[in-house]
Amino acid sequence: MRDKFVIAIDGPAASGKSTTARVLAKEMQYVYIDTGAMYRACALQALQKNIELKNIDALEQMLRDICIRIEYSPDGNRIYIDGKDVSERIREADITRLASEIAVIEIVRLRMVELQREMGKNGGVIMDGRDIGTVVFPDAEFKFFMIADVKTRAKRRWLEAQAKGEILDLKEVEKELLWRDENDSHRSHSPLKRADDAIDIDTTGLTIEEQTALIRNIIKARYTDV
Ligand code: DC
Repeated sequence: MRDKFVIAIDGPAASGKSTTARVLAKEMQYVYIDTGAMYRACALQALQKNIELKNIDALEQMLRDICIRIEYSPDGNRIYIDGKDVSERIREADITRLASEIAVIEIVRLRMVELQREMGKNGGVIMDGRDIGTVVFPDAEFKFFMIADVKTRAKRRWLEAQAKGEILDLKEVEKELLWRDENDSHRSHSPLKRADDAIDIDTTGLTIEEQTALIRNIIKARYTDV
């Protein structure tokens, strides 16, 4: 067994994965790996290089050349493509949609999964995404599947945007989340899916502290030295 384990947190967008993962990683001195940011970086690179998603040869070349670097920090990771900080740009709406589109492509997934396995091979990581417990680390010591009611998720995204000075239409945010749920869940390669041995965490109506405590208590119950 690994000295430090792999904690996989999967679930749909805005279900609370990244906030929970960040808080727990800081407490446990684990590294938080946001795999969604990696698909977002691929989407941004394809856009910047004018690569059409159906041009598999060009995508293959792009995946060979791209250098995605994650700078880990307890206060939030920074993402770099070829040395340029794109942490804010990859969160914008066009990239959010394109990331879900590029993530259906098999060669993109194969490359990202390879990188993710390398990052987590020695344990000590909390990785969030859609396929971590099913495909990337099917042998993860802990697997959680986070869900929340779509209205709760839309409100979270709406509030996050508002905090950045952006006023969105709540109905539109909800529509976009439903589109992404559908796209992420119905692709043929490693779709968003609950692993059979994952523990369900429904964060509807929970505060960040409450949802984090649920997971913390489950980990502590099995490993008292954490
Ligand atoms: O978690 P996120 O919203 O930043 O993810 C952006 C997109 O990337 C999401 O719509 C689906 C895709 N994704 C994926 O297919 N597999 C992962 N492990 C993580 C994200």
